[in-house]
Amino acid sequence: MCGIFGIVTDKEQTLGPILIEAARRLTYRGYDSVGAATLNGKKIDLRKDTGRVDEVAVKYNFAEMTGSRGIAQLRWATFGEPSQVNAQPHLDSDGDLVGAHNGNVVNNFELRQQFIAEGLTIRSQNDGETCVHAVERYINKGYEFLDAIRLAYGDLQGDYAFVIGKVSDDKLYAIKKGSGLVVGLGEGFTCLSSDLPSILPLTRKIIRIQDGEIITLWADRIELRSVKDGKIIQRAPEMVTESMDAVQKGGYPHFMLKEIHEQSQVAREVLHMLAGSAELQGVLEKMRTARNLFFIGCGTSYHACLAGAVYFAQIAGRTVIPVLAPQFLPQYILTVNHEDVGLFVSQSGETKDVLTALQAAEARGMTAFGLANVIGSTLTKATSFTLPLCCGYEISVPATKTFTNQVVTFLYLAYRLAGRDTSELEQIPDLMDKTLEMVASQVAVVASEIDKWNDMYCLGYGATYPIAQEGALKLKEITYAHCEGMLSTEFKHGPLSAVTDGFPILFVAPPDNVSLIVSGINEVTCRGGIAIAIGEEDARLRANASELIVLPKSTPQISALLAVLPLQMLSYHISVARGYDPDFPRNLSKTLTVD
Ligand code: M6R
Repeated sequence: MCGIFGIVTDKEQTLGPILIEAARRLTYRGYDSVGAATLNGKKIDLRKDTGRVDEVAVKYNFAEMTGSRGIAQLRWATFGEPSQVNAQPHLDSDGDLVGAHNGNVVNNFELRQQFIAEGLTIRSQNDGETCVHAVERYINKGYEFLDAIRLAYGDLQGDYAFVIGKVSDDKLYAIKKGSGLVVGLGEGFTCLSSDLPSILPLTRKIIRIQDGEIITLWADRIELRSVKDGKIIQRAPEMVTESMDAVQKGGYPHFMLKEIHEQSQVAREVLHMLAGSAELQGVLEKMRTARNLFFIGCGTSYHACLAGAVYFAQIAGRTVIPVLAPQFLPQYILTVNHEDVGLFVSQSGETKDVLTALQAAEARGMTAFGLANVIGSTLTKATSFTLPLCCGYEISVPATKTFTNQVVTFLYLAYRLAGRDTSELEQIPDLMDKTLEMVASQVAVVASEIDKWNDMYCLGYGATYPIAQEGALKLKEITYAHCEGMLSTEFKHGPLSAVTDGFPILFVAPPDNVSLIVSGINEVTCRGGIAIAIGEEDARLRANASELIVLPKSTPQISALLAVLPLQMLSYHISVARGYDPDFPRNLSKTLTVD
């Protein structure tokens, strides 16, 4: 997710320790590289590299950096591998400007081609550098600094926050589009950051910046303007009173809840990223022409593979073999060769089961692509190309936002493969927010009703079958109850015998197959079971299910994706009601690097 911090002070001084501490307080967002720059009116001191904050800060002696202004950045790689040159901040061609961003500039590739044609000096592949050159090109055309930044804002597409300073100046400027940006007001200084934790140790007096605004920071004042017309905007500062722990969790009691509520934002980011990916067409072509196409993962990532396989078949008519990574070897390895393509899916990019399958597949000549959240992880280095999930750091052990972004990515790929207009998918982030709003109170009630059960089923059909499996995994993982995810039609072939009075069964109803779900519901309710349906408003579900958790109207495939949100919330509520910590369930770890 990256993180930026900037400070403007009233005198030249040692800023290194402040920048190091600010960077440390942004590490919760996830990162692979660290950088700092100070400006003193005559020169810019820029130091950066890949690695942990403390390692890089010691190696390059950040502590000695002096100036009256400073910028720190933590980079989570998306455009360009983690490397010293791709680390931020970045300079303009002549080294007069220095800037850093967080987020993604999705027209990075096109802008860079333009800058090269205009004779600007490009040093990295990183889109943070693109932001700096986007300003530089207008300065070269004779615009004032502020106006150059306003014009650059119009050119930079995507979701980002960006800070920039000029050597011969006493200010920093920042803009934001989509990503967070907060300004702090202190005694003798002002500062800004992607998020509050790096500001609060310095000051609790803050101003939140909105999209389409440009902020100028002096040591003793700030000026907020509209990017569009340059007019001054008045906004009174607010005082932050929450504890640091509460702030880090975004005001939510647990990271899981925070991450559930981040899903719409990260979905927006991954959709932007996919739309701007220059490499994607090549990947799709390989998938289209492959003899066999495998989606390979474990746990939640495997459930996303299952959803992807359904989407590819339903939308693009392309058969996919979804497979659990450890099963790939005994079942398929001898059958694969260079004509096959595998997409290896992993949040961490470090899951041993996945890496073992990848190694074996590559040894057989298979083309291997990745879909991962942690860029720079072993998976991303071992595959020929990896699509980033753009989720930032997922702290909570139960995967939530990385799952939905995996599914969104599969949906996007299926649309592209089918030659369908992907603009239909742009409604997903808003639908996710709407879903959370619509289901909130009802899910809490249902959770209290079924909390006493330690055995449950979660059933789906078609596109909702993988979602039911993921919902069951979430319930198992953090409530410690047994919950089995199944195809709804399979229930009558055995597990139906378990149904007793009040036994809870969750039905995830696809809008295009409601009647089949209704048969399943009746089979359990007539035996005393409680059928909790999750689906779009439908008279048949309403009449037959014991409870209907309503999703907003969308397409069958998007509806399946939305259905996982109430399931995540349900498991969260039950976990908390049982007195467990959903972020760190017993016996589990976020990354499994063992066989
Ligand atoms: O990092 P990965 O996506 O490769 O991890 C795979 C599984 O270990 C992971 O999805 C696990 O099932 C999650 N904790 C589920 O929430």
